[in-house]
Amino acid sequence: MSEKINHHRRRFLGTAAVTIAAAQLGMIGCAKAQSSGMRPGDLPTIKPGTNTSFGPLKQIDVRPSPNGITFFADYKNWETISSTDRVDLGQTRVILGNDVAVKAIADKHTNPWPDGSAFAKLAWAQVADADGSLHTGEFKTAAFMIKGAKKYASTDGWGFARWHGEQLEPYGHDASFATECVDCHAPMAKYDFVFTTPIDVEMSQPSPPDTVNDAASLAKTSFLQPHTWRVITSWSDRRNGTMSTMSTLYGDPAAVASARSGAVYPAGARLSLVTWKREPDERWFEAYIPGAVQSVEEVQFPTAPGARAPTYSKYEGQSVRKSAPDPEQAARRTAYIVSQRAAILP
Ligand code: HEC
Repeated sequence: MSEKINHHRRRFLGTAAVTIAAAQLGMIGCAKAQSSGMRPGDLPTIKPGTNTSFGPLKQIDVRPSPNGITFFADYKNWETISSTDRVDLGQTRVILGNDVAVKAIADKHTNPWPDGSAFAKLAWAQVADADGSLHTGEFKTAAFMIKGAKKYASTDGWGFARWHGEQLEPYGHDASFATECVDCHAPMAKYDFVFTTPIDVEMSQPSPPDTVNDAASLAKTSFLQPHTWRVITSWSDRRNGTMSTMSTLYGDPAAVASARSGAVYPAGARLSLVTWKREPDERWFEAYIPGAVQSVEEVQFPTAPGARAPTYSKYEGQSVRKSAPDPEQAARRTAYIVSQRAAILP
């Protein structure tokens, strides 16, 4: 099924959620119902702990990059390590890391990165919603770097590759395209040629400077598990100065599988929205990255028969202190979070 269709389907979910919220607020009848062919029974089978946990991977025949690097077919199951709001290009980018990279972040061994570490940088054109927040639109590129100090010695120890558009066309006529990547990443030599300072989502202790984005990292808690969850989408709100924020919506395997396939969120599915202060990226002009953690909001769909509204919880700041939002705000935020459509991932 095409992701474009999935995208439209999520609109229905948005309406459904607003209906739930409106019902809670005693406003039922204001929200317009739409019909959808999808039922919870249509959800893809979820096998926790396997590569298919987070939704079906497309069996696509992607041509390799001209330097011989083949497409990283399992990238959708990698963890989110940061995001950027690229004002210069009008793009939102999410950076994912494979399991080797994520372990290096937890161990604070990010400079140099160990062999086998890989990053995916996914870029979308930005589209504004009614509030002026910038959400992911057209899928632009998937760029990858894989560390191999010896294997890729001629390109600074990293294998570079990029694919364009939903059709994932490999970039470059021949292997020399990587010179472009190497040249622009060269100023990052002291950070092992990597721009991104990763966010640790289960931070247990402060990190040595420049290894991890400490301000944006989250304290390790028992109730938030972004480590075992994956990205649904990411957006930024560029209100002036200190009010600007960046947000990433994570979901547990059930939530991610349904969001990515355009299905209704199933019973028990959990979503977690992390919002950071939006900070200028010291490493790139006109880029913004997550700064101090502002809040973590959680939405959980009920499992009890007859229960209608999802539960909403809000935690403030890096130490994720539980706060007590009023019911109206909780309903509004639930509707907003549930209405977010998954970013297109080819
Ligand atoms: C004009 C400069 C420029 C060029 C050319 C460039 N990059 Fe990057 N790259 C960046 C910046 C800046 C970032 C940080 C994320 C962001 O702001 O988009 C980045 C981030 C990345 C990341 C995420 C890991 C990291 O370093 O943060 C990957 C993967 C990546 N680039 C791959 C590539 C590949 C592959 C090429 C060549 C096909 C390439 N880049 C060419 C500037 C560049």
